[in-house]
Amino acid sequence: MNILVTGGTGFIGSHTCVELLNNNYNVIIIDNLSNSSIEVLEKIEKITSKKPKFYKIDLCDKEKVKEIFNENKIDAVIHFAGYKAVGESVSNPLKYYRNNLDSTLTLLEVMKEVNCHNLIFSSSATVYGTPKELPIKEDFPLSTTNPYGTTKLMIERILKDISISDKEISIIILRYFNPIGSHKSGLLGENPSGIPNNLMPYIVRVATKELPFLNVFGNDYDTHDGTGVRDYIHVVDLAKGHIKALEKSINFKGIEYYNLGTGTGYSVLDLVKTFEKVNNVKIPYKIVNRRPGDIAACFADPTKAYKELGFKAEYGIEDMCKDSYNYILKNKSN
Ligand code: UFG
Repeated sequence: MNILVTGGTGFIGSHTCVELLNNNYNVIIIDNLSNSSIEVLEKIEKITSKKPKFYKIDLCDKEKVKEIFNENKIDAVIHFAGYKAVGESVSNPLKYYRNNLDSTLTLLEVMKEVNCHNLIFSSSATVYGTPKELPIKEDFPLSTTNPYGTTKLMIERILKDISISDKEISIIILRYFNPIGSHKSGLLGENPSGIPNNLMPYIVRVATKELPFLNVFGNDYDTHDGTGVRDYIHVVDLAKGHIKALEKSINFKGIEYYNLGTGTGYSVLDLVKTFEKVNNVKIPYKIVNRRPGDIAACFADPTKAYKELGFKAEYGIEDMCKDSYNYILKNKSN
């Protein structure tokens, strides 16, 4: 089967390409490399001994996207491509609405024109806004707190409408919790440019002494130690969830939603302490004010994905901390 992966050189996309190739799918990547590098392709090949087909194009370019669908018989699409920095989306919302929506609409129009019916969409737990209770189930009310999240929710709504109008379509929406970790080889991982926004990339920079200390955003939340609690999931587990979703999508019509998380929440300080222990490094930190827009706790009820997809995250928090650091140690430019 030929699987088109948009954003296939990104953090989650690249790990998913590895799992697809390991499961004998043919992989065709579209990426404009706006937030990833071409070397990822060699790394995917090094890990799997297989070469994904690659097109450096912008997903908003409809003619080029259509050419790719005409050149390759695409059986299913996994759609990752999109901007994803929450803070940037607040300061530049138009950039997020224009890019994330335009690219998705273009992809959907082309899929319709060429009769490609299978789509897996990369959504986020951010669509649950401030959850009414925990753990979070797929049928909880949806809302968002920033433009990035709103683009995910808007796309979910668009896909819902398409599923009503097109009885042939198969859409699986995956709502990710907090992906961290990296491939065991140390070849693929997450290394954002500039000062990281997310917790694990920041901790890693403190570990390598590129940053002096971690700012812990608040210790007065209603959680076991006062710091924010999240459902961290190993990116390799997350990638495997896409294979399960793809298997389901083949014999399925309609739209379904799944949480991809572990079901366990860890606080900022839990993560810091585990990172220190498994990597034998010190992570100095300072408690500072809460970050605007953050919620106290967020973790998944992963039951639906387990029952209907057979998906269960296997890696624990220690592996996530080890693998995140291993990637940086192996890829640090000295
Ligand atoms: N945190 C710190 N210091 C930092 C960075 C983060 O204390 O330097 C804390 C946050 O306050 C929060 C936790 O660490 O309690 C996790 O923060 P992240 O920024 O790593 O992740 P978020 O849960 O805020 O957001 C992430 C993604 C979003 C996605 C969301 C889904 O960034 O894109 O998970 O739940 F929508």
